[in-house]
Amino acid sequence: MTFKILISDPLSEEGIQPLRQATNLEIIVATGLSKEALLEVIADVDALLVRSQTQVTREVIEAAKKLKMIGRAGVGVDNIDLDAATEYGIIVVNAPDGNTNSAAEHTIAMMTALARKIPQAYNSLKSGNWDRKSFIGVELKNKTLGVIGLGRIGAEVTARAKGQRMNVIAYDPFLTEEKAKKMGIGFGTIDDVLQAADFITVHTPLLKETRHLLNEEAFKKMKDGVQIINCARGGIIDEDALYNAVVSGKVAGAALDVFETEPFVGHPLLDLPEVIATPHLGASTIEAQESVAVDVSIDVVNFFNGEAVRNP
Ligand code: NAD
Ligand code: MLT
Repeated sequence: MTFKILISDPLSEEGIQPLRQATNLEIIVATGLSKEALLEVIADVDALLVRSQTQVTREVIEAAKKLKMIGRAGVGVDNIDLDAATEYGIIVVNAPDGNTNSAAEHTIAMMTALARKIPQAYNSLKSGNWDRKSFIGVELKNKTLGVIGLGRIGAEVTARAKGQRMNVIAYDPFLTEEKAKKMGIGFGTIDDVLQAADFITVHTPLLKETRHLLNEEAFKKMKDGVQIINCARGGIIDEDALYNAVVSGKVAGAALDVFETEPFVGHPLLDLPEVIATPHLGASTIEAQESVAVDVSIDVVNFFNGEAVRNP
């Protein structure tokens, strides 16, 4: 029997080799499909592999008459309607750690770029100006980094921030004082972190509980001149509240990789010189893309061979 596997977002060709080598799988690569085209093609496939662009809604799941598996080549499964998938008995797998390192490196790069105004200075120089006065930054050394969400990426960011001689204080519902002590970091409630930090970075999933975790109230509790980094998920920060906090001067700068609605274009946040941004590039390295594609591909191969999957 041959099973049809639809890949609807760009995945690393090297990473999907396990799929190509399987004799019982037919691979259909169709990226950038309109919603209507996806609803049509999904009807006849046994598995769907996505990154973050394809929105696997209830409507898509209901149109998928033969779908048995959805694979997410990455961590966040917030673009998949998990309730609908469960209801229809469709297994969902992801790649929980293939892009951890890349996302942590991107977070540190964004924090450093923010602290030293590198994108702003780059734009100025490229526009023909030799301006050394407008881009005075701050050092990271001896500053306090607040980490909200100390999972895989939060922990890697913490280790790197300590290497920059930063003090780290973290909040995570699963973090204990003992674990924090072992890691050589501070531990507290979310309010403790908001009040103590010079830089705040979020690394939680996007859940009901984390939507707008950083909102108007939260910004009020922060230090004046705090700087914010979000390389986790759009929606964890209330973008309107962030805009107001930057305009008022409460927040000195923000580095954003992810947005409530993507693609993120034409939003007033992007007009603020204090805000630097990348278009969801946290996992965009050759290594991470290969690794996450290999991880989901192996699970697809295992599943259609009747073997156990590794990352349900
Ligand atoms: P993880 O599951 O390892 O860690 C998430 C942590 O958040 C857990 O420790 C959990 O206890 C904690 N958490 C949950 N609810 C919380 C709350 N209310 N307050 C504080 N902490 C809470 O996940 P990860 O691999 O570290 O990924 C973190 C985030 O980064 C995810 O949203 C993921 O989608 C995103 N991500 C983005 C990119 C990118 O391209 N920008 C790349 C990889 C991952
Ligand atoms: C993830 O959740 O893994 C990230 O958003 C990475 C991505 O899909 O690009």
